[in-house]
Formats: sequence, structure tokens, C-alpha cells
Amino acid sequence: MKVLVVGNGGREHALAWKIRQSPLVTEVFCAPGNAGIAELADCVPIDTSNIVEVADFAQTIKADLTVVGPELPMVLGIADEFSRRGMSIFCPSRAAAELEGSKAFAREFMQRHKIPSPGYRICTTVDEALAVVKEAPFGFPMVLKADGLASGKGTVLAKDAKEAKAVVTLMMTDKKFGSAGSKLVVEEFLTGEEVSFLVFSDGSKALPLMSAQDHKRLLDNDEGPNTGGMGAVSPATTLTLEGHKQIMQEVILPTIAGMAAENRRYQGVLYAGIMMTDKGPKTLEFNARFGDPETQAILARMRSDIVPVLKNIADGQLKDSKIEWAKEPSVCVVISSKGYPDQSESGRVISGLDSLKGQSDAFAFHAATASKDGKTVTVGGRVLGITALGANLEGAIQRAYESVARISFDGMHYRKDIGQRALARLHASK
Ligand code: AMP
Ligand code: GLY
Repeated sequence: MKVLVVGNGGREHALAWKIRQSPLVTEVFCAPGNAGIAELADCVPIDTSNIVEVADFAQTIKADLTVVGPELPMVLGIADEFSRRGMSIFCPSRAAAELEGSKAFAREFMQRHKIPSPGYRICTTVDEALAVVKEAPFGFPMVLKADGLASGKGTVLAKDAKEAKAVVTLMMTDKKFGSAGSKLVVEEFLTGEEVSFLVFSDGSKALPLMSAQDHKRLLDNDEGPNTGGMGAVSPATTLTLEGHKQIMQEVILPTIAGMAAENRRYQGVLYAGIMMTDKGPKTLEFNARFGDPETQAILARMRSDIVPVLKNIADGQLKDSKIEWAKEPSVCVVISSKGYPDQSESGRVISGLDSLKGQSDAFAFHAATASKDGKTVTVGGRVLGITALGANLEGAIQRAYESVARISFDGMHYRKDIGQRALARLHASK
């Protein structure tokens, strides 16, 4: 099989790496890829938002399967473009991807299908938003979300009305996130532990992946601004067997059934961001894609071939797909550039990557990297996701940080506490 991977992040490197290992696969292509992906796939410089060009390329190389990583091409309808051409793609349709593409749609969908969620209000004008801020129906802190794609940065916590008003101005008047600011969702602030719960779905059945926990904030101790994710552990140590069952019954299955009932059959990977509250699991968000960096941690643990599952879903039937997982936990530590998540530096030469090659328990998944004059350089915010397995969580953390210590570039930043909360919880439960 020839497989085309669409995207250029750490998630896509992990996908391409896992797909490359399949005995069914003869060639892997990637559009556009990065310096790490280029070591195992033929990379072509096609922008992921150019869905027609991606489809043309897939047609030219006669790709048997295309796997899409990022949200933008999904929301732009790349799956619909491929279906029109009769080509196989692992990616939800445009209508299904709206679960991620519109926070307002997702909240109203959850309400229609009684999926446990925080209280919310949808505001379509600045005046309406200011009135909700004044009323503060759920008190403070207040969660404000731009209604569209904002690279994981469109959610802001405001501690009081003054901050909330500033967020309204930023999103709706100054359009910091472009058209995503034309609607705003105000939400009840939930507390608890977050779990990233991912399932494969063919539109009627769901096959869960291993759980993971992201580390969204930029700095240690969960301080600093929200980012796309600074590290992940798998499994999420907060998730009990009971919690797993509850999420499947109350969130995942009603979502898949609800989407089918609304003619938005969900085929792909569904990522539910769940807050485990003292009143049970509540849905913070849906993503219509693999998480980043969760995927790096999750796929490092996948023992069986991923390709049959992806292909079966692309063809509309999970069949009797099963996944085997390593018992060993995994940890992914993201290394980012100076200035991330606002203005990231670029063009810094990365050293130490060669020393991580050829290992079976630690991998350097590339994100914002490129090759220049024979060197690997940074080209954006999240640069690498150093991912390691260990006999236990402690071991995985140690292994990941040993590997991180071998990497260096000017201005590199990483959190020193990835996995520490999970570890503390494990110790507390013993
Ligand atoms: P989202 O943009 O919906 O993915 O949210 C990004 C992050 O903001 C989540 O992973 C949570 O850490 C936090 N968050 C989002 N919604 C809420 C909420 N209602 N209550 C508390 N935290 C939230
Ligand atoms: N790491 C969070 C996300 O992929 O949305």
C-alpha cells in the first residue's frame, strides 16, 4: 500500500513512523512533513490547507490511503473532496468535523444529546457578550472561547469581569482569531483532572485508544498561558475502569449515535477532552483528530499494526479491528522555541538528534523542524516531542528527560514536570 500522511507536526511524525512499520505498506508520502518525517517518507511541499492540491497529489501517486492529521484541512472538507474522487481517506467529513470546527455547534449538539457538559452561553454580538460578562451566570473564573479554529489558543480564562471584557474585545472586536471571533462561547469553569479520551469510529462503532493526559500550560506547575500542549503521559492515571465505562456510555456512544442521527456520520478518530469532576465526566471539547502531543505518547504504546484500523475506518467499517497495547506507560516532553505560544523564534540549529536514533524505547518526534544546509533547524513553536516508554511511569519520565538532555538549541524551552502530577496521584492511590 501507498499511504499519504497530511500534516507537519509531531502527531504526523508519530503517525508516519507507525504507518511505516506496517508490513502492508510499501511507501509513505507526507504533505508537507518536516525534517524528521523526511527520514521515513517522501515529503512534498503542499500546504495542508490546499485540499485540492493534496487530493491531486494523492491521485497522482495512486495513494491507497490518505491519513489527515491537522484540523484545518478537515474543516475545509478534504474528506469530501476525496470521496467525490472515490479515494480512500482517514478523516471525518466536513459536516462531522464541525464537532471541532465550531464550539457553538458542539455545545448545542451536546445539549441536544444530553452529553454531560459545563453550562454555557453563546454570544453572537459584542453587546450580548458584555451582557453575559456582566451577568456572570456561572461566576468567575469565566471560560471564554472563540467559536472556531485558533490553534488551541482560542480558550481564555478570565478571573474577573475586567479581564473577561478585555477578552471579548480581543476576540470579537480586534478579531485576534479572525472569523472564529464572530461568535463567542462563555462557559462554566470546571475543576478536576483532565483526560484526553480518543476512540476510532466508523460512524457506528467505537474502538477506544489508550487514554492520555496533556499538559496544556506553558510552564511548570500548570502556570503560564495555554498552549497546544507541552507534554503528555499515557495512560491517564486519573482514569479508573469505572470512569472509562462512564465516558464511553455517557459521552462517546451518544456522540457517535447523535452524529449519525443528524446525518453527520462520524468516521475517523474522535478526541473527547474530558474533565473528571466530582459529578462525573464532563466534556470540555471535541476534536475531530488525533491530539498533539497525546498521539506521540499513545502511538509509542501501540503494538499492533495501525494501518488495517485506519483503512477499515476509511472504508466505513471497523470490522473486528483490535488493537494491542504495551503495558508500559509513556511520556512525551515537548521542546518549544523561545517566544512560543506567541511569537516563536525560528532558524535555530538543533544539536543532539543523532544520539537519539535507533532506540526502541525513546523517540524524537519532530514538529517544527526543517533541513537547511545539512543541519536540522527550528521553524516554529513546538519543535520536538521526545517520547519514551518505561517499565513504570517513573522510568518513562526518567528516560524521556535523559533524552531531552541530549538535545539543545538556542532558546529551547520545556517543562520539567511532565508526568509529575500523574506520578503523585499514583503514589497517593497506593
Ligand atoms: P479548548 O479550547 O476547549 O480545547 O480548551 C482548552 C483548555 O482549556 C482545556 O483543555 C482546559 O484545560 C481548559 N478549559 C476549557 N474549557 C473549560 C471549562 N469549561 N472549565 C475549565 N477549563 C476549561
Ligand atoms: N493537545 C491538545 C490537542 O491536540 O488539541
